[in-house]
Amino acid sequence: MLFLPLLTLALLSVAFAEPRVSPLVTHEKRSHTPAGWSRSRRHDSAAVLPLRIGLVQSNMDKLEELLLDVSGPESANYGKHWSAGKVAQTFAPSRETVDTVREWLGDSGIEPSRIKLSGARTWIELNATIEEAERLLNTEYHVYSHFTGKEHVACDSYQLPEHVSKHVDLVLPSIHFDAVIKRDNNPSGHTLRNIGQPGVGLKPKTTGTVSSILNQLEACDQQITLICLRALYGIVYEPVATSKNSYGIVEYTPQAYLQTDLNMFFGNFTPNLVGSSPKMVSIDGGYAQTEYTGFDYNGESDLDLQYAMSLVDPQPITLYQTGDMVEGASFNNFLDAIDGSYCTFEGGDDPNYDSIYPDPYGGGYEGPEDCGTATPAYVISTSYGYNEADLSPAYAARQCAEYAKLGLMGTTVLYSSGDDGVAGNGDLCLNSDGSQTANGTMFNPSFPGTCPYVTSVGATQVNPGASVAEPESACMQVIYSGGGFSNYFAMPSYQAAAVEHYLTAYPPPYTASQYNATGKSRGFPDVAANGANYVVAIDGEFELVFGTSASSPVTGSILTLVNDARLAAGKSPIGFINPTIYSPAFTGAFHDITTGSNPGCGTIGFNATAGWDPVTGLGTPDFPQLVARWLALP
Ligand SMILES: *[C@@H]1O[C@H](CO)[C@@H](O)[C@H](O)[C@H]1NC(C)=O
Ligand SMILES: *[C@@H]1O[C@H](CO)[C@@H](O)[C@H](O)[C@H]1NC(C)=O
Ligand SMILES: *[C@@H]1O[C@H](CO)[C@@H](O)[C@H](O)[C@H]1NC(C)=O
Ligand SMILES: *[C@@H]1O[C@H](CO)[C@@H](O)[C@H](O)[C@H]1NC(C)=O
Repeated sequence: MLFLPLLTLALLSVAFAEPRVSPLVTHEKRSHTPAGWSRSRRHDSAAVLPLRIGLVQSNMDKLEELLLDVSGPESANYGKHWSAGKVAQTFAPSRETVDTVREWLGDSGIEPSRIKLSGARTWIELNATIEEAERLLNTEYHVYSHFTGKEHVACDSYQLPEHVSKHVDLVLPSIHFDAVIKRDNNPSGHTLRNIGQPGVGLKPKTTGTVSSILNQLEACDQQITLICLRALYGIVYEPVATSKNSYGIVEYTPQAYLQTDLNMFFGNFTPNLVGSSPKMVSIDGGYAQTEYTGFDYNGESDLDLQYAMSLVDPQPITLYQTGDMVEGASFNNFLDAIDGSYCTFEGGDDPNYDSIYPDPYGGGYEGPEDCGTATPAYVISTSYGYNEADLSPAYAARQCAEYAKLGLMGTTVLYSSGDDGVAGNGDLCLNSDGSQTANGTMFNPSFPGTCPYVTSVGATQVNPGASVAEPESACMQVIYSGGGFSNYFAMPSYQAAAVEHYLTAYPPPYTASQYNATGKSRGFPDVAANGANYVVAIDGEFELVFGTSASSPVTGSILTLVNDARLAAGKSPIGFINPTIYSPAFTGAFHDITTGSNPGCGTIGFNATAGWDPVTGLGTPDFPQLVARWLALP
């Protein structure tokens, strides 16, 4: 008799273990082989692949709603930001997700003992033979060769049963392309991870050395210095809550500042800061290298730090110096460091795009990857970027969700919107197959600027011959303000009225084969600030610098001063600002920019117009207005 219940249970569990069957659906598909690679052969079917299945997180459908709940100016929970623990708990993949994927693998003949769940429950891993992987994913794996000789395993597309597909973000390796090319072998600059490497991604531009520094309000059309920015945006404020406040600037090695350059700038413009340095937070072996110098190595960091440190003085600045000299780093490496729940090789990174630490190839940083070791500052400005098309939609979406989580925790995340107008970094445009070339005809939006959970910052200029009292235009000297409409992200509710107004009042004379004309996609940038003619000390000389690279840290400085005022009044930091700045309560808190455009891809781009536009967003900051309105919020 003792055996009977057990037997019954065993029979029952057999009955329930009938494999679930649902039709196969294509989960991810790549349209073209990335430049530099060619398919060389079918992979050996007995070889073993480390297969990693990224699980869909819970409550992602409520992400925007949850973020609006703490960021919407009319919400009862405005400013009640979440703890990191609450964020991790809310979005961890559900039991049902984990079980569905496990059952599917079990039903497909994979022994449970071969399946491993990562610590943060976000990945399921197993070592599968090529034959098993091809059967699981209904695909074919090929070996691809790079012109440098490097080989990579990939497929063109793969399928999952429908009931499994909805629980999976992505499977690796699959269509995602290997960027693990040592940069020394890769003069073409196609490495995606080394976002700080000269020639990769977004960089400020210079027209050369300044012969004499004008530093006059009358000359802001020729040279931007601190007095110009203070006059343009009404920045008159002495920080008082510096011990409570924080402002972080992110740099990617080998980009680095030189202390001698900071001192040279401060000596001329902010004498009390001579000898001051940012608070260095080293991430994954990052340090302010001095081995390589020149505009291409020091321009970005010198610009960001000289202006940010001066504008928020005496507020100390945190410098998140990310990545070593060998492997470099990606945005995910930075995000891992400031949010432990996003972190680890197993918890969100894609070895095809992100650097792996300790350096598996030797010669680089040998320490453990930084995971939750750095505290996120209240405002974080980054002047680096990719083109959306450099990344797969799934990869971009996963990273974008992380920016929403930082918003839930009270951090304002700013990214420069790009310097090539409607074209992408490097002045590349899209072709219909998704490839990017100089002669492409489709606009090429930048990332993370198109992520609806970051604040994207475009560039303006003081018009030639004009004074600081006159309205600025979209920047049309040396660089053009990045802007347009995402191909990956839907329009968030907070900007719907503003963007619909633009599309209705000024219908762009372009077709759906030039830009995402659905009227339902995320428009960027959100705001703008001056990006032309900055006087920056670089390698012992004053140079004239252009770019949204300047606009982002200047906007970050202004928002940091707003945080100071709120913190001094016992209020929370402003956190994710987009729902607030697009709300009626903030109408008129930005200087609307209505002239200029953002040319690219053989067109004049979009026009700056009255109201929001995909060139300068809502406009440039009016600091006294912003402080007053943010102090009026709870
Ligand atoms: C896969 O194999 C590698 C090398 O043998 C091993 O280190 C790793 O733990 C294995 N992974 C799983 C999920 O079994
Ligand atoms: C566009 O440029 C690519 C190389 O970047 C070239 O292969 C292609 O032929 C060009 N197409 C046209 C229409 O000129
Ligand atoms: C346009 O944007 C929408 C919303 O993000 C997206 O679903 C659609 O695929 C995009 N269209 C193109 C052509 O990229
Ligand atoms: C920009 O404005 C000019 C002049 O009003 C107009 O001819 C052009 O069609 C507009 N372009 C766009 C993209 O809206």
